[in-house]
Amino acid sequence: MLNVNKLVVANWKMNPSSIKEVEFIYKGISSYLKKIKNVETVICPPFPYLYIPKKLKINNIKTGSQDVFNEKEGPYTGEVSFLMLKNFDVKYVIVGHSERRTLGDTNQDINNKILTILKGKATPIFCIGEKERDHNGFYLSYIKQQIIEALAGVMKSQIKNIVFAYEPVWAIGANATRVATVAEFIETRIFIKKIISDLYDIKTANAVRIIYGGSVNQTNAKSFIEEGGADGLLVGRDSLNIKKFKEIINLASK
Ligand code: PGA
Repeated sequence: MLNVNKLVVANWKMNPSSIKEVEFIYKGISSYLKKIKNVETVICPPFPYLYIPKKLKINNIKTGSQDVFNEKEGPYTGEVSFLMLKNFDVKYVIVGHSERRTLGDTNQDINNKILTILKGKATPIFCIGEKERDHNGFYLSYIKQQIIEALAGVMKSQIKNIVFAYEPVWAIGANATRVATVAEFIETRIFIKKIISDLYDIKTANAVRIIYGGSVNQTNAKSFIEEGGADGLLVGRDSLNIKKFKEIINLASK
């Protein structure tokens, strides 16, 4: 069955620096969610804060991680395994974020991570997106390659458990040149479905959730969902501001 709830994912990146602030945001969002329907809210805090929702007894926000390493345990300084994440009831894991790709993650690494997450019965939030949009459409083959290489070995039955996040690199963060237009999102959403349909089949393509990320705010959130048909949103900066994030959740619930 298709999941009809909209997915709103907070990617906190390397913020905030104090536990006090983390608890403040969690409490603020959690109490707001008591009156919200039709939205599944996920917060992906930095690793050291993964224990906080349990500590605060928060059960209406799902826990996501910003990354994972594909080995179970061993001599991998600085890495965190999926088995470790499981202790914190992590249900979603962001993979392939452009900021991780910049730090060295290849499509092959992302493929390993996706396989690990699926094996652990969690949901990869698989980020894809071009660095620039050229007029000849080369960005489409770039996206296609990201998808094909990262899905190697993923079985047809597992595809519906992956959330695809279209995050054009030029639209992400404080240095974004602009936000994607709804038309650009729709084009990419159809393109992603076409690739999945070619790799698997049309039924599988129809079942995947595709969300948008990149400078999502209170002004544009609604149009990506209502006009763009997005299954949800991946929110960076504005997920750290309680007032703004609440409004984005509210818009997604409508
Ligand atoms: P932004 O980040 O909303 O701050 O642009 C989005 C993301 O990188 O996931």
